[in-house]
Amino acid sequence: MCGIVGYVGAKKATPILIEGLKRLEYRGYDSAGVAVLDDGALKVEKRVGRVRELSSALDLQQAGNFGIAHTRWATHGGVTQPNAHPHLDENQRIAIVHNGIIENMSALKGRLEGLGVKFRSETDTEVIVHLISWLYDGLPGMAGDSISPDVAGDPVAAVRAAVGRLRGTWGLAVMFADHPGLIVAVRNGSPLVVGLGDGETFLASDQHALVPYTRRVVYLEDGELAVITREGVQTSNVDDPAAKSPEIKLLEEEWGVAERGDYPHFMLKEIHEQPEAIRQCIRGRVVAEEGSARVGGLDLSPRELVEINRVGLIGCGTSYHAAEVGSLVIEQLSRLPSTAYIGSEFRYRNTSVDPHGLYFAVSQSGETADTLGCVKEIQLKGGRIMGVVNVVGSSIARACGRGVYIHSGPEMAVASTKAFSNMVAALYLFALQIGRTRNMSPHQGRQFAEGLLGVPDLVERYLANPGPIDEVVRWMPDAKLALFLGRGLSMPVAREGALKLMEVAYVPCLAYPSGEMKHGPIALLEEGTPVIVVAPDDALKDKTVSNLQECRARGARICLVHTEGDDIAEYADVSIPVPRCEEWFSPFLTVLPLQLLAYKAGLAMGRDIDRPRNLAKSVTVE
Ligand code: G6P
Repeated sequence: MCGIVGYVGAKKATPILIEGLKRLEYRGYDSAGVAVLDDGALKVEKRVGRVRELSSALDLQQAGNFGIAHTRWATHGGVTQPNAHPHLDENQRIAIVHNGIIENMSALKGRLEGLGVKFRSETDTEVIVHLISWLYDGLPGMAGDSISPDVAGDPVAAVRAAVGRLRGTWGLAVMFADHPGLIVAVRNGSPLVVGLGDGETFLASDQHALVPYTRRVVYLEDGELAVITREGVQTSNVDDPAAKSPEIKLLEEEWGVAERGDYPHFMLKEIHEQPEAIRQCIRGRVVAEEGSARVGGLDLSPRELVEINRVGLIGCGTSYHAAEVGSLVIEQLSRLPSTAYIGSEFRYRNTSVDPHGLYFAVSQSGETADTLGCVKEIQLKGGRIMGVVNVVGSSIARACGRGVYIHSGPEMAVASTKAFSNMVAALYLFALQIGRTRNMSPHQGRQFAEGLLGVPDLVERYLANPGPIDEVVRWMPDAKLALFLGRGLSMPVAREGALKLMEVAYVPCLAYPSGEMKHGPIALLEEGTPVIVVAPDDALKDKTVSNLQECRARGARICLVHTEGDDIAEYADVSIPVPRCEEWFSPFLTVLPLQLLAYKAGLAMGRDIDRPRNLAKSVTVE
């Protein structure tokens, strides 16, 4: 959510900043801007729209080898050029880019306006730059605020002092026209990573922007301030100027940037990458002969696994749906109570955290603010939480310390597809591992392990022959609503299908447990309402089919996702068969037609598939 880039070195800054923004664009893409120091003056260019709008308005060869840039996902203030970052102080000597939300914006703005400061945008960010400027200039304190005399004229001290007066979350980068070659960066809740080059240093919201230039990075922690120059980085705590020794880490190769190849969109490419992605996730982790799994990153002995008395899984969006699937299977295989929680809900419900429980933070990006907040809350309450994360070295992975990397490779489309499958696969590995220490016999374990190992081939087989999805796509442009139904493991799949169609095609969707449909959503059905029923050949199939009939009797059009060779296809207007598998593994298959339906409907309706409106891939605000 908002991408930040900074550069200081010997090269021209603008092309590097623009390239960095392009790589971070999935974090937000409503407007973008750069500030570069050229001949002692800050040159700022901003545009509403994509980074390409900005780059075509810029002279990429302009002089200046020091700058900051930003791609925005609006929180405070509409999508306008004045609200785009960077923001400048009144004297145009200080530029700032920000990711996060300033919660005491109104109070600070009121006080600054009382001192005569004129605001040019509606953003919370602008408060910060005026505050820094006020402190840097050593002007008389705001009412009730005393400023240490050491702050005036010292850019680092001014940023430190300003941040001390903020409440909320921020990843900040600040540059001063009268301190060429210095970027001050501060992190509190919004990620920042410094890239160390040879005589040049980079700053970014995440490592995607850094991989073309360097693999040596320093992740900032919450409450840290970084002084960035060509020579490198110095870090300290924001409330203590004593220098710390930053830990330099090496980025993993797999975070090279993904290319679209021959695919028209990343989403379609990522859907088709699922067989290989799942193989990557389970490779070396399934122990077929023991009928078990070994997930090294969890580092749990059988004794520790036996001592776990409940499991909690936390995620947002697609990751929550994967957590729901995982939770059901963990509970079935281990006979332990297992619950999936939505991050933004869990965080504030003052849940009792069980010190003998095991919690998982499920996140593709590893940066989702709500999920990260839950990690901290659980740790504060003495609980144990591990990551189920894709992005290596991300904030959630680091905060948890232990966990499973899902290894789906870079996922670029905003609508998540392959990460869903790999999260489910990773949670199935854990379910098998813990199941075998408790409830499952070697035979049951081996059956499950074999089933899981067979999933990638089945996914591949389905994708080679996906069925009559185009017929269902034709229903969508006129649909006031699409209803998704499922039971058991197919319920989270139905939710995921509805989320995909909403995100990518902007079709209003409702997902409901099929048995619950008669208690409300049935009132919405009209002649022709599309109902997508997920009913693989499992113990609940017949009950779901009864609900399907109830929809049909009210004129709804039925798309049925079912198991090939079963006897229910005749009940649907369009039936989409998926390969037969053991019940456990149906979510890997039934989700595929729903992903393709969303993609194809989005395409038919002229949507921006990889960058749907108003969304962002990495949501680093609450
Ligand atoms: C955003 C994305 C979704 C994603 C969710 C959680 O809303 O658009 O695709 O599922 O965040 O993200 P995470 O990175 O934590 O999995």
